[in-house]
Amino acid sequence: MSLFVTLEGIDGSGKTTLARHVHKRMEAHDIDTIATQEPTKSWLGDAVRRSVDEGADPWVQTLLFLADRSRHIEEIREWISQDRVVICDRYHDSTVAYQGVALEGRVSNPLEWIRRVSSPFLLEPDITLLLVVEPTEGLARLSAVRERTPFEELEFLRRVQELYLRLAVETRFVKLDSSRPPEVLAREAEGIILSRLQR
Ligand code: TMP
Repeated sequence: MSLFVTLEGIDGSGKTTLARHVHKRMEAHDIDTIATQEPTKSWLGDAVRRSVDEGADPWVQTLLFLADRSRHIEEIREWISQDRVVICDRYHDSTVAYQGVALEGRVSNPLEWIRRVSSPFLLEPDITLLLVVEPTEGLARLSAVRERTPFEELEFLRRVQELYLRLAVETRFVKLDSSRPPEVLAREAEGIILSRLQR
């Protein structure tokens, strides 16, 4: 049985670590699992990362995130059709939450605009695990490991998190308190995915 799981949260929320742990746990259960991420590892993902690092105009960044997804979704659809579990570290909700904030003042209703433009290349996830961390804590975790990108300013992340929490009223979302140890989070995520697969 296929399952499309996305991991979301602000920078420093621990998504990438969780993705790694969950992938290993699924493999330990002999479940055919693909771990993927956005921005992707393709040249489009490189272009996205470059636009973020260079602080390109928010429209440019938004269109690049969408271009990257428009190709990635083809791969995701293929994996799903092969009955695999797909664990995707960031996806459409990242665009809604981050570009929803970044495009404020540039278009009258950023969320509605993003949803409309994304509709031709959108596959709804079965489960979205939203890692929730205090933005100050997320930033502190990041500063410990690398330099910050322009998205990682406190006020910006607060607003992104607010948007994520608004999105999380949809039933596909499960909020996880990311102040807990990675092993505990991984066990919880594993339980959520396995119980969904057994349904
Ligand atoms: P990463 O740190 O998870 O690799 O993501 C790179 C940055 O890009 C991160 O600050 C979140 C941001 N981002 C968006 O703003 N919109 C998107 O659609 C995606 C996928 C990421």
